[in-house]
Amino acid sequence: MGKLDGKVALITGAARGQGRSHAIRLAQEGADIIAVDICNQIDTVAYPMSTPEDLAETVDAVESLDRRIVAATADVRDHEALCSVVDEAVSELGPVDIILANAGIAPQGAENPDEVKTFRDVVEVNLFGVWNTVHAGIPSMMEKGQGGAIVLTSSTQGLSGAGGTGTGAGDGYAASKHGVVGLMRTFANWLAPQSIRVNSIHPTGVNTAMVVNPILQKYLHDNPALGGALQNLLPVQMIEPIDVSNAVAWLVSDEARYVTGVTLPVDAGFAAR
Ligand SMILES: NC(=O)c1ccc[n+]([C@@H]2O[C@H](COP(=O)([O-])OP(=O)(O)OC[C@H]3O[C@@H](n4cnc5c(N)ncnc54)[C@H](O)[C@@H]3O)[C@@H](O)[C@H]2O)c1
Repeated sequence: MGKLDGKVALITGAARGQGRSHAIRLAQEGADIIAVDICNQIDTVAYPMSTPEDLAETVDAVESLDRRIVAATADVRDHEALCSVVDEAVSELGPVDIILANAGIAPQGAENPDEVKTFRDVVEVNLFGVWNTVHAGIPSMMEKGQGGAIVLTSSTQGLSGAGGTGTGAGDGYAASKHGVVGLMRTFANWLAPQSIRVNSIHPTGVNTAMVVNPILQKYLHDNPALGGALQNLLPVQMIEPIDVSNAVAWLVSDEARYVTGVTLPVDAGFAAR
């Protein structure tokens, strides 16, 4: 028996990285998965984003655990498209019990960036996209009337301005990830009467293609003070996606049934420095 038997989890950014890891971890606990990803490039993002092949890999991984998965391509910035793919998936899998608003971009380090467009894109994906995701997932959860759990992916940059550089990418990232905390708190108040819990998670650097790519590595190399500002307390440079997934799997389970409105760092002590 898994902790999440019979549950349906909506996960954005599920094609790869932490989103894929969350899909697998929740499926191991018995959940069926609605996996959404853009599987396309956003032009202000210099590192390669996900592909349809990445999303297909997530599908294979979940199916190999004997769980059901509906995968769809949608941009979290597109409210109608997102609602429509979620509605279609719900007609197949049943109402949503868990929402993981995980999709995000971090376009730091692009050459000659359009600062204004970059700031706007980051905020639209990382903040408006989270709002859209929750509103796409909530109607069937409310209708089912048996509570639920929502985790919004923020960052250490949602609790700290360490390493601020004055760029559209960096400012947009910190602003959007702090904004996610505001959404989490207002959603927690809104949804508590329905026994729907809402928390945010704040990872330090995670070993995914968002940060392990030549563009960001060059940016950190050229700005050594930034690397220093982003160091963890524990002797680990980066954590693994599964470290975040394990915290998420606990947060959405009944073991955390009275945990709501919390900003949970999974940050190797970063916030305590
Ligand atoms: N990697 C880190 O160091 C780190 C640290 C703290 C927080 N985070 C956050 O964790 C989350 C997951 O990132 P990751 O590390 O797995 O990186 P990743 O780039 O591997 O995964 C992000 C996924 O989101 C998808 N995505 C991006 N924009 C989208 C959009 N508009 N619509 C739909 N899907 C979209 C991407 O295609 C990708 O598959 C992000 O919100 C990120 O900001 C990452």
